[in-house]
Amino acid sequence: MTMLDLDYKRRVLELKKQRNALVLAHNYQLPEVQDIADFIGDSLALSKKAATTESDMILFCGVHFMAETASILCPDKRVLIPDLEAGCSLASTINAQELLAWKAEHPDALVVSYVNTTAEIKALSDYCCTSSNATKVVNSIPKDKEVLFLPDLFLGSYIAETTKRKNMYIWPGECHVHAGIKADDLNKMFASFKDADFLVHPECSCTSSVLYHISRDDLAKNAHILSTEGMMNHARASDTKQFLVATETGILYRMQKENPEKQFIPIKSDASCRYMKKITLEKVYNSLTEDIYEVKVPEHTAEKARLAIDRMLAIS
Ligand code: 13P
Ligand code: SF4
Repeated sequence: MTMLDLDYKRRVLELKKQRNALVLAHNYQLPEVQDIADFIGDSLALSKKAATTESDMILFCGVHFMAETASILCPDKRVLIPDLEAGCSLASTINAQELLAWKAEHPDALVVSYVNTTAEIKALSDYCCTSSNATKVVNSIPKDKEVLFLPDLFLGSYIAETTKRKNMYIWPGECHVHAGIKADDLNKMFASFKDADFLVHPECSCTSSVLYHISRDDLAKNAHILSTEGMMNHARASDTKQFLVATETGILYRMQKENPEKQFIPIKSDASCRYMKKITLEKVYNSLTEDIYEVKVPEHTAEKARLAIDRMLAIS
C-alpha cells in the first residue's frame, strides 16, 4: 500500500463514521477497498446486510446491479456507488424488450432472474436468485410450471442438472470473466493437485464438465461448486491445506487473509473483472466527500423488483 493509499484509508475511515455510512464490498473488490469495508460478502449476504442496516447511507463497493438491489431494498436510504461505470457484462446480456418477447413465447412460465440483472429485469421477474440459493428458489416452484431462467447459461445449466428440471428454459448469457475459465484449464489441474480442494463458481464455463466428472468418474472428486461466500465458508471449514480457485481472482486476498496457514491458487490468474476493479480507494474517498454517485431505482420499478427479491429472501 502506498503512502497515498494509507492517507486515503485513514480519511475514508474517518468520513464513513462522520456520515454514518455503511460500506459494503463484494468479495472481488481490490484489497485496499475490502480493508475499509464494514462488511464483505457475496451478492446474497450483501443484499441481506443492506436490507437490515440502520446506517443513514450505503456506500456500495461492487457493481451497479448490486447498488440497485440495495436501493430497491432500502428505498429511504441514500445509496452511493463510487463509479457509475462499474457495470456487469452478464447483466448486459438481456434487456426489458428481450425479456418481454421471451415471456410472450412462454405465457404460463415463471421467470427466475439471477441477481446479476438490472432493476428493470428484476421488476419483470417472479423470483430473484443468487448463486448460493438458485437451487432452492427453483425447487420452490411447482414442478409442472415452466421456468424461464436468466441470464447465465452456465449457472442455468447447473441448476437444471441439480434440480433435474426438464421444463426450464435458459437465456444464453455469460460473464466474460467466468466464461473464460474453461474445462481444459481445470481438467489439467485435477491430475497435478490430487490432494487439493477445487472451488468452482457456477458461472464458469467449466461447471458442466465438473458436474460430468463428479457424476461419472472420480477426476473431480474434490471439486465443490459454490458461490463466492460458499467458497469462503468452505476454505474456513475444510481441513485441506491447498485450494484451487475457479472464479474472479479478487477473492484470493480475503481467502489468504482469513486463512494464513492455507494456500490458495487461482485456476486462471488473469480472471479479473474490469468492472469490479473500477472501484478504487480514491474513488471511495471522492464518493464520501462529494456525495456521488447516487443509485436510485424509481419506486414503480423498485416496488415490482422488491417482490422478486423478497420471494428469494423468504426462501433463503
Ligand atoms: P456471488 O454472488 O457468488 O458473489 O457472485 C456474484 C458475481 O458477480 C459473480 O461473478
Ligand atoms: Fe459481472 Fe462477471 Fe464481473 Fe461478476 S465477474 S460482476 S458476473 S462481469
